[in-house]
Amino acid sequence: MEVIIHPNAELAAQGAVDSITWALSAKPDLVFGLATGCTMESVYDRLVQKHQDEALDFSRCRTFNLDEYVGLAADDPCSYHYFMRQRFFDGVNIDLRNTHLPDGMADDLEAECAKYEKLIVANGGIDLQLLGIGLNGHLGFNEPLSAFRSRTRVQTLSRVTQAQNASLFPKPRQVPRRAITMGVGTILEARCCLLLATGLEKAEIVVKAIEGPLTAMITATALQLHPTCTIVLDEEAASNLRENDHYQRIMASQKIPHPNENGSHQPPAVTQNPLLADKP
Ligand code: GLP
Repeated sequence: MEVIIHPNAELAAQGAVDSITWALSAKPDLVFGLATGCTMESVYDRLVQKHQDEALDFSRCRTFNLDEYVGLAADDPCSYHYFMRQRFFDGVNIDLRNTHLPDGMADDLEAECAKYEKLIVANGGIDLQLLGIGLNGHLGFNEPLSAFRSRTRVQTLSRVTQAQNASLFPKPRQVPRRAITMGVGTILEARCCLLLATGLEKAEIVVKAIEGPLTAMITATALQLHPTCTIVLDEEAASNLRENDHYQRIMASQKIPHPNENGSHQPPAVTQNPLLADKP
């Protein structure tokens, strides 16, 4: 795991976008794992901008989202299908047939989960998985007690998660009780993971995820087991980290320019990942 701390949320989002851009240029048919949540909004805005300004090409890219609410149709403005189209897919040259989210309206939810897993495998597995983190440390919707080897399945949302996501619904009680989510094990199989967390409200969970003991109660701790995982933070989200100085030393010893020096940084977990670099 490597930890990269940027001065503010904008530069952190830009850092994540730089890594995604690099991965996409190394592998134009990137299998890109996508996340939702407010933190991702500036990432998608920047990717759309880069497509418009610099012709960043998504035409061969294939995507798999982490999760979707059970019971929300794709055209429901609160669904993740809708979020992704509005925020990202409709703004770039991605082929919508290559974009995938679990179907929260499926009659047979278990079969839908199994189908999603198979589809990821059929596409060669996820190259780069973008991740946010919930206030309770969830990845996707892997709520406390999610096994590290769990696969795509239906999860009951915790009260913390329902409260966190309530502002995105017209009324708090409209937040669905369940969602389909990739499992922790599914996420850990991605070749690279890139987690972005910003803001003071994430500081408490970020330190547990990065420096705390492995626990199924905080699924983001599972990323400590991943061989090529980069955590991109702003200073607020990083403010509780105890080993901050060590992370700076690692960046310096790898001769990686500190984000303060030129505003951009390519995490080695992404740039030096042979699985990506081998497939130009
Ligand atoms: C939802 C998503 C998670 C995401 C989280 C963070 O719960 N299912 O994948 O990490 O939101 O949200 P935010 O970025 O709004 O804090």
